[in-house]
Amino acid sequence: MSAKQQNILLLGGGGRECTLAWKLKQSPLCGNLFIAPGNAGTAAYGTNLPLSVTDFAGIKKTCLDHNIDIVLPGPEDPLVAGIYDFIKGDADLQHIIVAGPSKEGAQLEGSKAFSKRFMERHNIPTAAYREFTAANYTEGEAYIRTQQPPVVLKADGLAAGKGVVIAQSTDEALAAFHAMIMDRQFGEASSKVVIEQFLDGIELSVFAFTDGANYVLLPEAKDYKRIGEGDTGLNTGGMGAISPVPFADAAFMQKVISRIVEPTVNGLKAENIIYNGFIFFGLIKVNGEPYVIEYNCRMGDPETEVVMPRLENDLVELMLAMGAGKLNEVTVQHSAQAAGTVMLVSGGYPGDYAKGKVMTGFDKVNGSMLFHAGTASKDGAVVTSGGRVLAITSYGTNIKAALAKSYENAAHIQYDGIYYRKDIGWEF
Ligand code: AMP
Ligand code: GLY
Repeated sequence: MSAKQQNILLLGGGGRECTLAWKLKQSPLCGNLFIAPGNAGTAAYGTNLPLSVTDFAGIKKTCLDHNIDIVLPGPEDPLVAGIYDFIKGDADLQHIIVAGPSKEGAQLEGSKAFSKRFMERHNIPTAAYREFTAANYTEGEAYIRTQQPPVVLKADGLAAGKGVVIAQSTDEALAAFHAMIMDRQFGEASSKVVIEQFLDGIELSVFAFTDGANYVLLPEAKDYKRIGEGDTGLNTGGMGAISPVPFADAAFMQKVISRIVEPTVNGLKAENIIYNGFIFFGLIKVNGEPYVIEYNCRMGDPETEVVMPRLENDLVELMLAMGAGKLNEVTVQHSAQAAGTVMLVSGGYPGDYAKGKVMTGFDKVNGSMLFHAGTASKDGAVVTSGGRVLAITSYGTNIKAALAKSYENAAHIQYDGIYYRKDIGWEF
């Protein structure tokens, strides 16, 4: 492609964004790269800007000051808040490519009820469900009593990943329902609740990148959400990830494409919902069949830390093709290598944890990629600044070999309170 170099503004500051920055910087088409707010790792690939991902006025000023050509939102918040519509509705900014959906499209993630209704309209396989508010609260209680536990309750809106309860008994389900609707546990986000059938299977994450008409599939991944080994304990943002996913064989992926990916892309188009960028399909395989657990309107974290290393295409070229509506002209190449990532976290996470712990040992790491998540620079040192601190990704001829390398290097990193799961990829 003979396009000019692109000035890019990447929004976010986690492991996902560090990986995206690493990937973007490899492109000969990457001009000036800015990351807002970024972290101690992203500073190696571009310029960090002290800017919140939802500060639209600040984003506008940054776009104008730095002659930005492409905005890539990492997390969902700016997308659900309407960054796409903000940029496209502003005469000074509308030439900018936004690698993310419109506010309406982002509702696939921003509202569980919206996404369930969308799947219903397009016959996309998902758990049976009902939606409830304070207006039909007693009906909701009666519905819960008819359900065989476990019962799945989901706050309709964004709840920082905490809005899903899998209740093991009817009483627990009723209590969670009360907390969400009557006590407004998640504020406005839980004024509406989706109650759905529990699906028993194995989960994986599939990613498409679309221009609204065409799409390409990125490598699939599996993340490990629980804090404890053996998938026990509290849910986290994700403690590790692998790609490819051994149980996502060609026959299964064909079902995913024909029953889920294509009906989703075609359904968005048919409903005139503007959708560019990533679609993250959170799937579950039940008796060999794929179902959608959730949609996200962005890449996953830590899935990005294994997906981007396995994507052989130039990401800037993909975003330009998306902006031009020409993703049909692109062929995506997935690496034959496997990738595995292990997430180092702060002691106490996902509960309370300390910040500001000095990190050492980076210079001893050999043969892995370090993607910073919750880190910051302070007085010339790298310090912890979040729950998830550092993702260590490696390639290997298979998942076990990749993860063995990541674990070898994890042992070199030190900071007070360091914790990571030792069993990522244990089942393969
Ligand atoms: P979500 O926030 O929608 O990703 O849900 C969090 C987690 O809850 C998912 O990753 C699943 O492990 C689990 N989950 C959500 N919905 C269901 C369901 N219908 N059946 C079984 N597990 C579910
Ligand atoms: N790892 C799951 C997510 O990004 O939502």
